[in-house]
Amino acid sequence: MKICSTIGELNEALKDRKDRVVGFVPTMGALHRGHISLVNESISNSDITVVSIFVNPTQFNNPEDLSKYPRDIEGDSRLLEAAGADIVFVPGANEIYPGGIDFSGPIPRSVGSARHVDLNGLDRYGEGPRRPGHFEGVVEVVSRLFDIVKPQIAFFGEKDFQQLAIIKHFTKELGYKIEIKGCPTFREDDGLAMSSRNLLLEPQKRRAAPLIYKSLIEAAQIARSAPHPPITPPELADITTKKIDSSPELKTEYAEIINSLTLQPAESWDEEAITLCVAVYAGKVRLIDNIKLR
Ligand code: PAF
Repeated sequence: MKICSTIGELNEALKDRKDRVVGFVPTMGALHRGHISLVNESISNSDITVVSIFVNPTQFNNPEDLSKYPRDIEGDSRLLEAAGADIVFVPGANEIYPGGIDFSGPIPRSVGSARHVDLNGLDRYGEGPRRPGHFEGVVEVVSRLFDIVKPQIAFFGEKDFQQLAIIKHFTKELGYKIEIKGCPTFREDDGLAMSSRNLLLEPQKRRAAPLIYKSLIEAAQIARSAPHPPITPPELADITTKKIDSSPELKTEYAEIINSLTLQPAESWDEEAITLCVAVYAGKVRLIDNIKLR
């Protein structure tokens, strides 16, 4: 496995790529089995697997979240080597943002040519209004990484449901010929969705956190009841919030039931595909999760 920290080194490592399929797994490190499942998926679907590790400042709207974000390059490299990744790209910020990053505003912004993509309302609900600037930062970094790595396929987790939809959208919008593959959420034995942020949970909050997925499963059971659910989507979202908040360790920021394609609120059960998305605070740690209802 080659570890590259500059674009030059990466190009050198990829110089024999001709006619070979490059699979790409962008990450922010602090890797867990969920990331490794993306790497496995890439290994099965491509000839060369590149994993990037870059904690991207421009997607953090909260400076404390950025400074506390777990970092463990050595542990990550060991996991990736064991998983069979071919190349790990660990760039410095100057490789991704050659014009520098402006940290003076409420959210760090790249200096110079920012990429503007109309997100078509995909960021109107969920994470969008709660994390202003976040998705602009995601589009910025992922498109820059695509330009650098030039993969044919890229792999993202379905836990970040809205992120996945936005990445699929901008890939098309900006004309990239890259197949975006969504991969199922990996869970701990007690149901908690795997996330690098789980490492930051205090023990009591960690014990309470499985209630999030338990509440999502109960909501899915209600949403699938025949001949049709006894309550409306907004009522079910309210019930889910109350269930999660019944733990004193958890506080729901939002529970939203949305059309899985447009990401706009589902007002009735007639819509073709419907997903319940939640963001929950366990102390200072913010966890997100989702479940397909229909
Ligand atoms: O999902 C993540 O870890 C990040 O948002 C991503 C896609 C690596 C961009 O920084």
